[in-house]
Amino acid sequence: MKNRRQFIQLSASAAVVGTLGAQQSSFSPAGKLRKVWILSDLHSGLVEGGKDGAEWFSLACKDMQKEHSDIAYALTLGDITHGGNEQQLKNYITTRDGSGIRTWYEVAGNHEYHGGNADLYIKSIRSTDPYAVVDGNLVWIFLSDEKAGVPGELTPKSCDWLEAELAKHKGKNIIVCSHQGAKDTTFRTDNAQRYLHPADRIAAIMAKSDIALWLSGHEHHTPYSEKHIARVRDTTYINVASMSHAYKTGSSQSCLLEFQAGATQIIARRREHDTQKFMPQFEVIIPLRHAIELA
Ligand SMILES: [Fe+2]
Ligand SMILES: [Fe+2]
Repeated sequence: MKNRRQFIQLSASAAVVGTLGAQQSSFSPAGKLRKVWILSDLHSGLVEGGKDGAEWFSLACKDMQKEHSDIAYALTLGDITHGGNEQQLKNYITTRDGSGIRTWYEVAGNHEYHGGNADLYIKSIRSTDPYAVVDGNLVWIFLSDEKAGVPGELTPKSCDWLEAELAKHKGKNIIVCSHQGAKDTTFRTDNAQRYLHPADRIAAIMAKSDIALWLSGHEHHTPYSEKHIARVRDTTYINVASMSHAYKTGSSQSCLLEFQAGATQIIARRREHDTQKFMPQFEVIIPLRHAIELA
């Protein structure tokens, strides 16, 4: 798959299914406009810019609750902790559970393995097995990093699951969430340390799938630019990182997705929490094949 960069800028009761483990979750429908908050790379336990990653996360939660208390659910795309330890996980969970947002979905990033394995993440957050969440005709596919090391990796079993799950949901609006990005899409995903492996198998699966949007983190903005957004074939790719100032980002940022029932597009708005403002220059309109139906 080669880049045909053509990103479009501007201006305009969930059931967890199909997982390698089984989960159920629910939330109240938020009406005709569904807001979903996406963040990544908070690095709880690492102090940079004068604050711990968990504090940047706490400030961002307060910022979003002030103006967007109607967020239906939130997604955290990995590197929740810096060192994978218990206290860092606890600091994330305490803020998450006090955020006012009732439903959260996570994937593990490479830093969740910094204790040698992701056992503490699995014990306190959720399994690293892939899982799917269906919300009307939106299908969210969550892919954790499944192996220690900087590059992301899916097991062969998870690749099989992904292939079957994508086939099962043809005809719906599919959104994939992972920590590392898909190869040859957003900024630096031409570097083997920055994309999800096995890239050839994943590319083959994607080639016969209808994925509308792929969200990832891992590569922190320094600064954020249009290179963090890409459009390849009919899929839009957005790097949402990062929530903290870790690795010299200089600001805490995230992404708010807006789904309007009946619309054939999603609006992605980039938020800078330090200034408590959206960054209209990075607003993206994501075209969809199917009009949005909300649960
Ligand atoms: Fe990170
Ligand atoms: Fe990472």
